[in-house]
Amino acid sequence: MTMYELIQAKRRGEAHTDEALAWLIRGVTDGSIPDYQLSAWLMAVCLRGMNARETATMTACMAASGDQIDLSPLGAHTADKHSTGGVGDKTTLIVAPLAAALGCTVAKMSGRGLGHTGGTIDKLESISGFRTSLSPDEFFAQVERIGVAVVGQTGNLAPADKKLYALRDVTATVDSIPLIASSVMSKKLAAGAQSIVLDVKVGSGAFMKTREEGKALARAMVEIGQNCGRKIRALVTNMDVPLGYAIGNALEVAEAIEILQGRGCPALREICLALAANMYSLSFDVPADEALAKATTVLDSGEALAKFRAWIAAQGGDVACADDPAALGTAKYAKVIETPHTGWLVHMDAERIGRAAMLLGAGRATQDDVIDPLAGIRLAARTGDAVTAGAPLATLYTSDKTKLAEAEAAFLAAVELSNTDPGIAPLIYCTVGN
Ligand code: URA
Repeated sequence: MTMYELIQAKRRGEAHTDEALAWLIRGVTDGSIPDYQLSAWLMAVCLRGMNARETATMTACMAASGDQIDLSPLGAHTADKHSTGGVGDKTTLIVAPLAAALGCTVAKMSGRGLGHTGGTIDKLESISGFRTSLSPDEFFAQVERIGVAVVGQTGNLAPADKKLYALRDVTATVDSIPLIASSVMSKKLAAGAQSIVLDVKVGSGAFMKTREEGKALARAMVEIGQNCGRKIRALVTNMDVPLGYAIGNALEVAEAIEILQGRGCPALREICLALAANMYSLSFDVPADEALAKATTVLDSGEALAKFRAWIAAQGGDVACADDPAALGTAKYAKVIETPHTGWLVHMDAERIGRAAMLLGAGRATQDDVIDPLAGIRLAARTGDAVTAGAPLATLYTSDKTKLAEAEAAFLAAVELSNTDPGIAPLIYCTVGN
């Protein structure tokens, strides 16, 4: 078998055998296949696709290419969630303690942000003292004690994906359904949870631009999970607008706390309840409507906020923020953007808003950039809201005053006002999986 033959076969649209895929992923992992051949093969996959069997085999090989976390000592109710990447997506900060308060075992690894999307680990690090790196013993002991821990991804989880993802990033081969599905699911399978809930984002800030594409990606990932013996469900959700009002690390932690306190953005609350309820429903075989009712009770009773406090304290964070989000700190400079004219906010380009937040210091353009935890944007209105000329549209926060003008221009270019009411778009398009 040679890489030349595999590139040629895929270019012609032929399916690879399981043996060929196992050989290829071994070669990715041990570095024996040169980048130029892998890049050519990735482009052929992007253009010709892969069938369900090929995608499942490749995912299983990628999951087995490095460490595989054995969560079985933690019992049968381990549950994980994953979002395919969004702007202002702080759902893990709410869903992890909420699912744990429902009785799920949340032993979770999360990533850092890159480009216009944020990462949970960066958000958690905006809480003073919070440790995102725990030893395996500390991690397991914490989950056994309080039911939840969230740490940064270990260096050796699905290394084949790490290598392929880095190549995809620079060869315009990211947005391929089999490649995204295998990338996401290899890490989820290696991370070990029995129940997995996926949030597949659709819209301007997401890889999938249409509902149909989002559904196809959701189906591909659910099929992989089911074939690998996991309980799995995917929500296909609207990312044409940032999730909630805050974009930026400490700002998003503050907004997550508002939801846990029973306040805050109804859309954000709805999606967090749906994600946590599905984790509980899968883990405990509870019907979806019953699970949603229980999740709502646990959120409104303050049990999820109590679990958040226990979680933050267990990982060394300053829990004062749970009662007073102002304890997270405030950026040195703030600038209110005024609404240019009266009407309705009809469109927000979530990706461009994410880029405006990045300009302020909230995100990284390259992996080595240092984040300003207090930088970001707090929206005063979201898509569908009526707005009045001169009223605040958003506030920008940064510690670098020179960034404000460029970020304001980028923000204004990302929003569209109209004289016509756009109506309210649904937040959750559909659920895939049983
Ligand atoms: N997130 C991943 O982990 N992989 C992809 O390919 C896309 C999003």
